[in-house]
Amino acid sequence: MQKTTREVIACLLLLLALCISCSEKEKACAPVDTPTTQALNPNGDSELALLMRAMFDEAVQIKRQVANEEPISLKIDYEKILTAHATEPEKAASVQYQAFAKSYLQSIKDLQSASPAQGEAFYLNMVENCMTCHKALCPGPMVVIKKLR
Ligand code: HEC
Repeated sequence: MQKTTREVIACLLLLLALCISCSEKEKACAPVDTPTTQALNPNGDSELALLMRAMFDEAVQIKRQVANEEPISLKIDYEKILTAHATEPEKAASVQYQAFAKSYLQSIKDLQSASPAQGEAFYLNMVENCMTCHKALCPGPMVVIKKLR
């Protein structure tokens, strides 16, 4: 009898562990209120999630530079968006993701070569490229991305 109880408990624990790991995976594109540099995912954040947070932080800087008509400084290796390891690798490998990523990279190049007068329009175009991909593939962070407009 006692052995059965232990087996039942072991089964329940296993189920619990499974549930937790499922919900961690869900977190990949779950709503984010404020991007943080702290790990959100106890299993470790993916390379792509970390890149995204850095992109968010840099966008905040760019917004300020554009508003002050200062030169735009881009420090991130944006090309990594094509290859960085994602929480759901099959998502980042999809044709759709790769197409959105290339369009986003083009908006970064446009921004890089923008004159001070064009800065704001090109910045907003870049933010719309974040939104387009997120609307289609990863809706959670849209709330924070809106704040970049
Ligand atoms: C080509 C599609 C695509 C583009 C463009 C894109 N993202 Fe993402 N983003 C994703 C995916 C997919 C994830 C989930 C990453 C993961 O968990 O591995 C993500 C995750 C995020 C996250 C959550 C990171 C975390 O803490 O888990 C934020 C914030 C974010 N993106 C902001 C942005 C911003 C800001 C831009 C534009 C500067 C942008 N994204 C452009 C696809 C995209």
